[in-house]
Amino acid sequence: MVAPSKRTFYVTTPIYYVTAEPHLGSLYSTLIADVIARWQKLQGKEVFFLTGTDEHGQKIAQAASKVGKEPQEFVDGFISAYKKMWHMYDIEYDHFIRTTDQYHIAAVQQWIRTLQKKGDIYKSFYHGWYCTPCETFVAEKTDDQEGASTNGPLCPSCNRPTEVVSEETYFFKLSAYQDKLLQFYRENPHFIVPKERMREAINFVKSGLKDLSISRTTVKWGIPFPDDPDHVVYVWAEALNNYITAIGYGQPEKAALFNHWWPAQVHVLGKDILRFHAIYWPAFLMAADLALPKQLLVHGWIKVDKQKMSKSLGNIVDPKVLYDAYGAEPVRYYLLRQLPITHDGEFSVEDLEQRITADLANDLGNLLNRAVQLAHKYDVIELPERATWSEASLNLRDEGWNALTDYKSYMEDYLFHMALARLWKFINQVNAYFHEQQPWVLAQQDKEHFMEVLSATFNSLRMIAYMLWPVMPHKMEQLLESIGTPFTVSGDMIKDLELNGWKQQFMLKKIPALFEKPQIHLEQRNALSEQQQALDTTITIDQFAQVQLLVGTIQECAAVPKSDKLLQLQVSFGDKGERTIVAGIKQWYTAEDLIGKQGVFVVNLKPRTIRGITSQGMMLFAEDDQGKLQFITVAALVPDGTRLQ
Ligand code: MSP
Repeated sequence: MVAPSKRTFYVTTPIYYVTAEPHLGSLYSTLIADVIARWQKLQGKEVFFLTGTDEHGQKIAQAASKVGKEPQEFVDGFISAYKKMWHMYDIEYDHFIRTTDQYHIAAVQQWIRTLQKKGDIYKSFYHGWYCTPCETFVAEKTDDQEGASTNGPLCPSCNRPTEVVSEETYFFKLSAYQDKLLQFYRENPHFIVPKERMREAINFVKSGLKDLSISRTTVKWGIPFPDDPDHVVYVWAEALNNYITAIGYGQPEKAALFNHWWPAQVHVLGKDILRFHAIYWPAFLMAADLALPKQLLVHGWIKVDKQKMSKSLGNIVDPKVLYDAYGAEPVRYYLLRQLPITHDGEFSVEDLEQRITADLANDLGNLLNRAVQLAHKYDVIELPERATWSEASLNLRDEGWNALTDYKSYMEDYLFHMALARLWKFINQVNAYFHEQQPWVLAQQDKEHFMEVLSATFNSLRMIAYMLWPVMPHKMEQLLESIGTPFTVSGDMIKDLELNGWKQQFMLKKIPALFEKPQIHLEQRNALSEQQQALDTTITIDQFAQVQLLVGTIQECAAVPKSDKLLQLQVSFGDKGERTIVAGIKQWYTAEDLIGKQGVFVVNLKPRTIRGITSQGMMLFAEDDQGKLQFITVAALVPDGTRLQ
């Protein structure tokens, strides 16, 4: 990546929809931003870290009305849960924006006016599909989109049904920015990290941008559109602007502040909201003649049992339960070490406990403990700065420099899991050194050498603590306290480590074990296992019996007019009658392949009308490794209408 050149560093999280309390996914985005912010502070940068909540729109209005509350009262109820959670996990943000804040509302209205003056907004009519959970307009159904609901396409992002929206709207001329966006991506190849996501954005833009609806008339919970109160601003068109309104955009008295921080160095976001940040947001900024953010860091999802954790799937892991069981910093470490940021990663309590036991309690905590206790045993409380080192110690020092160089480079690329893995290699080298030098023997035979081994170990631990501070700030401050090199962030601490590392004197103090091996209490384990049970996806035999699966023979088969994919089948179920069933298999089967064959069909699905034909069931297939759908049949003929059991 391109090294940030400014001395200021502005980092943001996505702003969270406040339909529930924060979960582990929300913590993950926020934690990444916190670690970035702390890493920059450690290098003497002036940092501004923004987080907050996304409080308008249809999704929130619906969630509020479900529980019989006014939207404002509903969202107000969640704010303290967010702030408490961030406090609990040592998230050191500088400002918490709420999109219901007056300054945000006024600044968004001003932004709209600016775009109107430029001629980038026009009034027209939108008729199409909308996904409320994602708050997104979904493109018209393509040909015979598989799995589409009767009325509209499924949302390409969350795969849930969309609903029709037909209303007057203001459009933003997004199409006018297609070439400018492509040029921007060309000129800024590191704009999106990781690269795969950059390609995704480029392909999306290349496939053609349509103008974007940026107002709603059928939703009332939003920012009133300037001079047209029947419209509210589309939630994404205002939410993205939080990144500029929070630092003073639209407030003349804050112009200097805005110029001080903008453009942001990095927006942290999950892969599900890439399109909004990679396409709409840069276009919105170009339209307002503002600079573009330097980078988007796009992380994967935390999955539980291979599914994205989300409220609607009911597989939420509550960070409060994890906090009570393991403490904040071990969880911070685990999330960054275990999950490869650029990909999806699986959350598991077993892995978490394993990391705490092996990496934190054994490798790091024990090393500190053993060294401090041994020193105390032989009455070494103070260790002076050393002038000379043996070869083994010099080798260890070189390993430390190498680790620091690699660690820095991974951190600058936001590859936290790699940085931590690399650092642990060094921690293990320090452990090996300590073990090989046998300081417990030296203590009785060669006091001078004993002091050297202790000194080398503590110098190494000091370097480790600096590097780990962004991930586990309090634990590392405790570590540094116990070796008498207390720590406050000032200046470029990493540079200082490079220049003056291993020139330390130490004053040793025994402290309780830095990390406890997990011995979680029964209550907490129950709370976790309740969460695990909620993830149990098994069904009862009665639930299975609700699906009626029948064997039927295909009697007739014809292509559906004007469709590349669909075949219309006439299927006999013996004395249970005949049914018309539409299947998207034209690319693989002809009438000849199918007529007379027995297949398996679900017959109690709600009928769907596809291309004017009502399909009264669904034929079952399994996809082979060439991507062809192979139909399911029975090994020997059975009477048509036989039920599968
Ligand atoms: N309100 C929008 C963002 C607007 S930003 C101008 C939104 N909110 S959200 O609450 O649904 O999601 C916020 C962030 O949480 C996203 O980055 C999303 O990827 C992240 N996570 C939500 N669930 C997640 C996981 N299971 N795993 C990792 N992060 C996920 O989208």
